[in-house]
Amino acid sequence: MGIHDATHDTRALMLDDVATYERADVHRVRDVLAKFPAQCRAAVELRPALAPATPRPRLIVVAGMGGSAASGDLLAGCAAERLDVPVLVHRGYGLPMLAGDRDLVIASSYSGDTAESLSAAEAALSRGCSLVAVTSGGRLAALARERGVPRVTLPAGLMPRMALGYLFFPLIGILKSADVHVVKGGEIEETFGVIDALAAELGPARPTATNEAKRLAQAIGDHLPVVYGGPLTGTTAYRWKTDFEENSKTFAAAGVLPEMNHNEIEAWSGPLARELYLVLLRDREEGPEITRRFGLLRELIAPGAAGVAEASTRGGSYLARLLSLAYLGQWTSYYLAILRGVDPWSVPVLDALKGRMRSDG
Ligand code: F6R
Repeated sequence: MGIHDATHDTRALMLDDVATYERADVHRVRDVLAKFPAQCRAAVELRPALAPATPRPRLIVVAGMGGSAASGDLLAGCAAERLDVPVLVHRGYGLPMLAGDRDLVIASSYSGDTAESLSAAEAALSRGCSLVAVTSGGRLAALARERGVPRVTLPAGLMPRMALGYLFFPLIGILKSADVHVVKGGEIEETFGVIDALAAELGPARPTATNEAKRLAQAIGDHLPVVYGGPLTGTTAYRWKTDFEENSKTFAAAGVLPEMNHNEIEAWSGPLARELYLVLLRDREEGPEITRRFGLLRELIAPGAAGVAEASTRGGSYLARLLSLAYLGQWTSYYLAILRGVDPWSVPVLDALKGRMRSDG
């Protein structure tokens, strides 16, 4: 990673002082993140209460919002080079016209009370799609109970964006029961090994000098993070952006190569560039054209930015590579929240909007 800031400045001291976390992280998000490997392991065991009655689907739709849609992105990322069944991540009300009675719809809502996801579940039922609900409770669980919909019940009590393991791993089993195999033998175990290693490297006890997430957060500091990924890591760049927004309460941007080379790259000639911190999400199999394009970004736009850093996927399988990078992003946004003195857990504006949508509607 290309960060060359001093590790002895006050920010590093702050992140290496245990008292900081007692003060700034009252909901103990650090413990939730540290337990992410255990969450993933427990999630593999979660299965639908009723076996989904699905022949092999023509299309798989994961319908969810925010943190509950991120599992769909991860699934689509793993599936892209492997499955002959398209995986569509639907963020919004209803379902795309395309979804019909030969398709599998997974309604994913951690709380079970997200209006858009409930509307997608209703649409799936009325169109005769095979429907599976993935939720910890709420109205989605009630709908599943009342209408005989197979349901994976997730442990409650987390913020949805911090429940990525619970939201994602059951999808592998749901697809498998519909004869769709998104991971190969050994890939889940490999992923756990990679995540275990990262958990040991990224927690608060690991000093800034050797902690990639602390160093990234420290380098971003007061600047606005702009995260770019390649063909595999593009959706992870989006996940980093949403984690920065929800955990660190900062504006952030995300883009994907090569598309951003054809539009967004031009915005870097404006005066705002010096406020932006560039984070490039690399993958060892990104391919020579994408490697060249990342190199050109370093030449053409990085000099005008506040700084630039790179983070790379780890592991061999798509799953390990995507999840390792998502996990690094979670920790990075966590430390950025701590540095900025904001609570990484609560999302009061988001909650207020949901409340208003319910009461004003
Ligand atoms: C909050 C969060 C949000 C939610 C979104 C949908 O932690 O991550 O992005 O995921 O508002 O709510 P759920 O996941 O409950 O359907």
